[in-house]
Amino acid sequence: MATKSPYHIITIPPLQCSLSNPDATATTIAEKFRTLRLHSLQVNPEAFAAKYEEEVQKPLSQSLERILNPKAIHFVALQTPSDIDPATIEKDAVTRLVHDHWLGMIVLLGPQEDKGENPRDFTSNPFPAFTAGGQLVEPDALLYRINGTFTAPEARGLGLGLKLMQAALGAAVQGGQQFGAAVRVGLAVFAHNVAATKLYEKAGFKIVEDRESRSQPWTRALVMDNVLVPRKLVMENVLVKKT
Ligand SMILES: CC(C)(COP(=O)(O)OP(=O)(O)OC[C@H]1O[C@@H](n2cnc3c(N)ncnc32)[C@H](O)[C@@H]1OP(=O)(O)O)[C@@H](O)C(=O)NCCC(=O)NCCS
Repeated sequence: MATKSPYHIITIPPLQCSLSNPDATATTIAEKFRTLRLHSLQVNPEAFAAKYEEEVQKPLSQSLERILNPKAIHFVALQTPSDIDPATIEKDAVTRLVHDHWLGMIVLLGPQEDKGENPRDFTSNPFPAFTAGGQLVEPDALLYRINGTFTAPEARGLGLGLKLMQAALGAAVQGGQQFGAAVRVGLAVFAHNVAATKLYEKAGFKIVEDRESRSQPWTRALVMDNVLVPRKLVMENVLVKKT
């Protein structure tokens, strides 16, 4: 008989409350998100542009704002008790997020319209640029950004990083399907971060730029892209539909 996996990837669903009037559930999820994010900056300061000393000063409302942002999908790797039926986990996402142990996360920011700039001006904090603006109007091509990839040291090497990434890429493809648009996902990683770079390559990302890092000038930053739905394919589909 197959053993049940204690690990599950779930998305923080849209929470029915506002930033100015959060309920207890949203507050708990924001606290757990903040705790894991701060943990990532403490455990692997060399991997991130953000600094623990600065981020720990920021209020919980900043974390809440992030998880409530409709252009930021948060994927969380959970350690779920063995007596929980896997079929119920997605349906009970909020309960599981509140009660279970968070082992990792990844954030998909966007989409913005992909204007094809390459190289792109990636800032060290992509959140504002990639979550700006409302719904796009008939875009031909979408650009998403991956942010905050992290799995806790005790859970590394189990495939959770790759599963988190695959969940995020799946959501980006779905986003493109809504518009019949091409889809490209980008990210930036420090060149010294071999584990993350290999994970990204395994997930289909390719290095498109290698430049001096702005946040940590002693190292280099790699900009990586993953073209999930090429523009050419979208154009061919349009032509097929017209003929
Ligand atoms: C990078 C990180 C997310 C990988 O997470 P993980 O859950 O251990 O990754 P997985 O088990 O899913 O591994 C998937 C693939 O990534 C690569 N990989 C992961 N860890 C690696 C390591 N230490 N060395 C080399 N390659 C590694 C491998 O290709 C691996 O596939 P394989 O097991 O078939 O060889 C994790 O090490 C981490 O959180 N690091 C600190 C934070 C960080 O660097 N974030 C990225 C910021 S850009």
